[in-house]
Amino acid sequence: MSYLCSVIEKQKTMSIQIQQVPSPCYVLDEQLLRNNLALIKSVKERAGVDIILAFKAFSMWSAFPIVREYIPYSTASSIHEARLAFEEMGSLAHTYSPAYTEKEFSTILKYSSHVTFNSFTQFERFLPMVKSFERKVSLGIRINPEFSEVETDLYNPCAPGSRMGVIADQMPDELPKEIEGIHFHTLCESNSYNLEKTLEAIEQKFAKYLKQVKWLNMGGGHLMTRKGYDIDHLVNLLIKFKEKWNLELILEPGSAFAWETGVLVSSVVDIVENHGIKTAILDASFTAHMPDCLEMPYKPRVRGAHQEPVAGKPTYRLGGNSCLSGDFMGFWSWDEPLKVGDKIVFEDMIHYTIVKTTMFNGVPHPALAIWNDQKGLNIVREYGYEDYKGRMS
Ligand SMILES: Cc1ncc(COP(=O)(O)O)c(C=O)c1O
Repeated sequence: MSYLCSVIEKQKTMSIQIQQVPSPCYVLDEQLLRNNLALIKSVKERAGVDIILAFKAFSMWSAFPIVREYIPYSTASSIHEARLAFEEMGSLAHTYSPAYTEKEFSTILKYSSHVTFNSFTQFERFLPMVKSFERKVSLGIRINPEFSEVETDLYNPCAPGSRMGVIADQMPDELPKEIEGIHFHTLCESNSYNLEKTLEAIEQKFAKYLKQVKWLNMGGGHLMTRKGYDIDHLVNLLIKFKEKWNLELILEPGSAFAWETGVLVSSVVDIVENHGIKTAILDASFTAHMPDCLEMPYKPRVRGAHQEPVAGKPTYRLGGNSCLSGDFMGFWSWDEPLKVGDKIVFEDMIHYTIVKTTMFNGVPHPALAIWNDQKGLNIVREYGYEDYKGRMS
């Protein structure tokens, strides 16, 4: 059995004791996170590349002491994420933002080892601040290879007219001498074969620049912890590319770290019926607590339910507790009718879910917890009225 298979086998045995979990609550399973981290670390070591955590997907910092045992660095997409890297990962961030402002750039420098610009105008505007900064910060430029196999435009940085990165036509003949790195991000929940094609496109359009820099940041979207991902192919691809171009390689996935590492536990609060359609209303909301379900959109897996409706079985929509009419999804079927108080457990609700929540409607925000197989449930954060009020003025 390969290393990857044994990791995936372990992932099947998620052991969170749901009856102990208050509702609503996101629960991260420590062992599943460790399994992902171990796999990511093994890729990093085998390929001789750097792999760092993209906070935009996962920034539940109470879990960072666990992350740091395997992966010490992170990538930040804003001033606050850069500071979080310093305070809670204990390291300087690789920072990239579509646009920096004068107000925040000195703080960005303070907390960053690497700063990537989205355009040459931003690079020129902030170069004097970088030059007069007390410590060296390695600078990069984001390129846009205009090649991506991501089908959802919302997640495709290479869609026509995209604001992400510099296209080949707009590159100068030679990079400014202060630019030490190139950054691209074109993948989303992708495999190593998508990466291979992207690298071919980059070699075709940007070869002369690859010779001028020290490092290449391959962005995120490398879903190496998904079942069936061809790890050996990724490792070989990275080794060959690194040797060919003599570059330091950096990968900054987010989803891969927290992929299938936990759940959102909610409860049925009421059941309503309208023209034969039954909706179980929950103490959680799709729009506020699982926004990607509506944005992407995708139908989340619900533990113990039939993912598609089954004729003859009790069948429901699940409805959020906000007053947005579209705050529902469905249908799922159960073997027994649902009743008030039943726990509804949404699978795989850690990456991008926790970071994207809102306090829309003032609905209570789910607590955050970490499940450890030996120590049990640790509720690391609960939210109350003051959190809601504090955001509003
Ligand atoms: C610049 C950049 N780096 C890294 C990531 C992380 O990607 P993922 O979580 O899909 O691995 C993203 C996601 O949007 C990104 O925009």
